[in-house]
Amino acid sequence: MSSDPTRTARSRHYLMCRPTHFAVDYSINPWMDPTKPVDAGLAIAQWEQLRALFLELGHTVELIEPIPGLPDMVFAANGATVVDGKALVARFRHPERADEAPAYVDWFRAEGYPVVHRAEFTNEGEGDYLVVGERILAGTGFRTDRRAHAEAERVLGRPVVTLELVDPRYYHLDTALSVLSETEIAYYPGAFSAESLTTLQELYPDAVPATAEDAAVFGLNAISDGRRVVLPEAAVQLAEALRQRGFEPIGVDITELLKAGGSVKCCTLELRGAGE
Ligand code: ARG
Repeated sequence: MSSDPTRTARSRHYLMCRPTHFAVDYSINPWMDPTKPVDAGLAIAQWEQLRALFLELGHTVELIEPIPGLPDMVFAANGATVVDGKALVARFRHPERADEAPAYVDWFRAEGYPVVHRAEFTNEGEGDYLVVGERILAGTGFRTDRRAHAEAERVLGRPVVTLELVDPRYYHLDTALSVLSETEIAYYPGAFSAESLTTLQELYPDAVPATAEDAAVFGLNAISDGRRVVLPEAAVQLAEALRQRGFEPIGVDITELLKAGGSVKCCTLELRGAGE
């Protein structure tokens, strides 16, 4: 089936962090094995390709300076959640990543964001908060504290729906669920508690289901501009399902970063201005 011409892309504003200091020298999720070799040069090259692709698609990419000693800082999605020009900056669960948060506070302040709120409870930014139209879906279970969901609702001024993750391989919401448009999502059912699955079925009866194979290659760690969906190229079944729905999937190879448990979406923080 060819792309549905009624789907329209909207150009986006992203924040990314070059993996200059990328490494896997600690393990805070099941994907990270510090005994396995990592090619930092390859990680940089794959990341550069992702950035170039976003620019080619007409998006704006801002950069935050990578800090030596913070090898996971490439995963910019975790730095904050930005809605209506308000930045809710992360508070990381693990001490290994804690020092990333002040760098985001400084970045948003320097950019003149009117609201820069440092989360009180553990909150891993867009890793666990996904904006779907007027609603925010929020993950908990491994990283973001449930109490942080109410805080996000208050600071960002949008309704937050709590979803509980139960599989340690899918420790952030953005590893198990992708936002495709203002009203559509895809997700891997195996990552959620029974109660959260009921919630998802009620809210999104037409969601695109992802297979275990797609989930295992981080296929859901994708980013959509409303028409083009950038996702790991190994997620072939998901790409086909998206094509059937009129989206244009674009597969990328970013497998070196998967050694740290991250992919396309993890590298990308969306900066939403007023009214977006
Ligand atoms: N190694 C990082 C961590 O465990 C990976 C973060 C991936 N980011 C994401 N948005 N899922 O924190």
